[in-house]
Amino acid sequence: MTDTLSLNAPEVDRYAVFGHPIGHSKSPFIHGQFAALTQEPLTYEAILAPIDGFEASLRSFFSSGGKGANVTVPFKEQAFALCDSLSAEAELAGAVNTLSLLADGSIRGDNTDGLGLVADLISHLGSLQYKRVLLIGAGGAARGCILPLLNAGVGQLVITNRTQTKAQDLVDIFSQVGGEKYKDKLQALSMPELSGEFELVINSTSASLAGELPPLPQSIIGSKTACYDMMYGAKPTAFNQWALQQGAAQVIDGLGMLVGQAAKSFALWRGVEPDTSGVLKLLREKLQADAQ
Ligand code: ATR
Repeated sequence: MTDTLSLNAPEVDRYAVFGHPIGHSKSPFIHGQFAALTQEPLTYEAILAPIDGFEASLRSFFSSGGKGANVTVPFKEQAFALCDSLSAEAELAGAVNTLSLLADGSIRGDNTDGLGLVADLISHLGSLQYKRVLLIGAGGAARGCILPLLNAGVGQLVITNRTQTKAQDLVDIFSQVGGEKYKDKLQALSMPELSGEFELVINSTSASLAGELPPLPQSIIGSKTACYDMMYGAKPTAFNQWALQQGAAQVIDGLGMLVGQAAKSFALWRGVEPDTSGVLKLLREKLQADAQ
C-alpha cells in the first residue's frame, strides 16, 4: 500500500535562495505563492550559506536534487563565476541571481533583476520606448538594469553617480558591447551637469537605506516625471519623498521589482510566468502591517 502511494506521488522539484544573511528573504513566500497560483509541484527554501562556503553549499544542494536557485547578497558575483553558461543579461551585469541545473548537469546563470524592474516599470507606465531616462547610481544594481532598459527601447539613458568615473566606466562597457546602437543612447554626466527634465528617473543607489539623498538638481523633475526607487518600505523612501516635493507626477518603489525578478526566475525554471499582482498586493499589506 505504502509502495503504491509513493510510486504515484507527484514529483516535487526543489528550489532555494542562497544568501548571507537570508532570514528576512521574501523569496520563499513569493515562490510559494507562485507555485500555488500555477499549480507547479515544487518546494522553495531559504539557505544560509557560510560567507566562505557559497559554492560548496550550492553544489551540495544541486547534487542532492536541487533544480534551481536564486542568489542574493553577497554571492551574486561568485554565482556568476561558477556558471558554465550565461544569458546576455547576466554576462553584462557581471552578476547572477538565478541558477538553473540543466539536463546535462551544467549550471546556467541568468540575471532577472533588470528584467523584473522593466516589467514593473511597464506595468505602471506602459511602454518605455523613446523615453528620456536618468539612472542614478553605478553599482551592481545599476549595471544589472542597463541592458534590459536598452532592450525595452528607451530613447536616452543618462547615468549619474556620486563617483562619476564609475558611471563613465559603465557607459564605456556597454558602448563597447553594443557599438553605435548603445553609444548613441548612453551618456555619463556628473550630478551638477544634469539639465532638463527626464520622463523617468530611477534611483539604484543605496542612499535611501541611510535616509540620505544624492545631491540632484531639482530641474530633472517635471510635472510629467515618473520616479522609481529600487528600495522599498512601508513609507515612501527618502528619494521618492524628495521627488514628490519637486512635483513628480508619480513615484514607485522597488517592491514590484522584487516580485518581478522572482516571476522571471520562476518562468525560466518552470516555463510559465506567474501573474504578479496578487503576490504584490499581499506583500504590500504585510509591509504595512509589520510597520504598525
Ligand atoms: P548595489 O549592488 O546595491 O548597487 P553597490 O555596488 O555597493 O551596491 O553600489 C552602491 C551605489 O549606491 C553606488 O552607485 C554608490 O555610489 P558610489 O559609487 O559613489 O559609492 C551609491 N551610493 C551609496 N550611498 C550613497 C549616498 N549616500 N549618496 C549617493 N550615492 C550613494
